[in-house]
Amino acid sequence: MPNALQELLRCQEDFFYFVDKYIKINHPARGVIPFQLYDYQKRLFKFYQEERYGISIKFRQGGFTTFSVVYALWLAMFHDNQKILFLSKTDREAVHMGNIVDLMLKMFEPWFSPKLEKNQEHIKVFSLTNSSIAFFTPDAARGRSLTHLFIDEAAFIPHIEKHWKALYPIVASGGKVFVNSTVNGVGNWFEQTYHSAEKGENNFKIFKSNYKEHPDYSNPEWVKKTREALGEKGWLQEVEGCFVGSLAIDYPLDVFKNLSNNELVRKLWAIFPEKKLKVEQHQVLYEASRRLYNQN
Ligand SMILES: Nc1ncnc2c1ncn2[C@@H]1O[C@H](COP(=O)(O)OP(=O)(O)OP(=O)(O)O)[C@@H](O)[C@H]1O
Ligand SMILES: [Mg+2]
Repeated sequence: MPNALQELLRCQEDFFYFVDKYIKINHPARGVIPFQLYDYQKRLFKFYQEERYGISIKFRQGGFTTFSVVYALWLAMFHDNQKILFLSKTDREAVHMGNIVDLMLKMFEPWFSPKLEKNQEHIKVFSLTNSSIAFFTPDAARGRSLTHLFIDEAAFIPHIEKHWKALYPIVASGGKVFVNSTVNGVGNWFEQTYHSAEKGENNFKIFKSNYKEHPDYSNPEWVKKTREALGEKGWLQEVEGCFVGSLAIDYPLDVFKNLSNNELVRKLWAIFPEKKLKVEQHQVLYEASRRLYNQN
């Protein structure tokens, strides 16, 4: 056994050391493996550390939930009085996050394993630090002061705007809030909050990542297979992170009728104010609009 105190102090100081040396995860194809962070997960650590309100469009199966849970575990094990709440759409997803923690705890050697005052599916309380991590749906979450609120797949949580109003005062006094979601069309709280953040109209800072940064997804074969499986709209939302719905919902398709290709591209440019869109993304949007138009 290494010098326990020294080791615990090192983990407290260095998240990456902690992850590298002690964290195991369950990979869908490879089973239980050491958690080797992808570069965007490393960036997410910095973002979580530095920002107070964060919002991020995730791509499916990018490891956003797992990373956030590991970050919470590190906070709770090595920092005093952290009150962390994960909100998810369903109880099944809440329990799944609790299970991710369970697996990690199970993999620790006994000397490294933290003592838990409470160890339930929905809540873990760490004796040494008096910190806790809870996993709930918004309806089950009870008001209590929080240091960290993570809202997972916010665009899919019914009435999230109402829950946000109730939760905001709980974090406003000093807590942090991180919202990660797949795109789910437009007109919902997630989309509005994201676009307001882009314009600097709220306090949220934006975290950007791209599926091409994921080692398993950055190959043409995966792109082809996934694109076929999801369909164009699914691909654009779930992988590219585009608010595709706006074409069909916000803008009557008539807007696109009779436009030349050039005009259409210009129109799309105006609709999607993210001026940083790459040429290839414009092409994808252009294609999507054509297809949506043809379908209707
Ligand atoms: N750095 C990594 N290396 C290997 N596997 C990883 C890594 N990060 C996450 N995973 C694995 O990838 C899978 C997806 O992770 P996770 O569920 O956290 O992603 P997600 O972005 O929340 O996905 P979803 O879109 O389904 O909510 C999990 O099986 C997880 O263990
Ligand atoms: Mg997830």
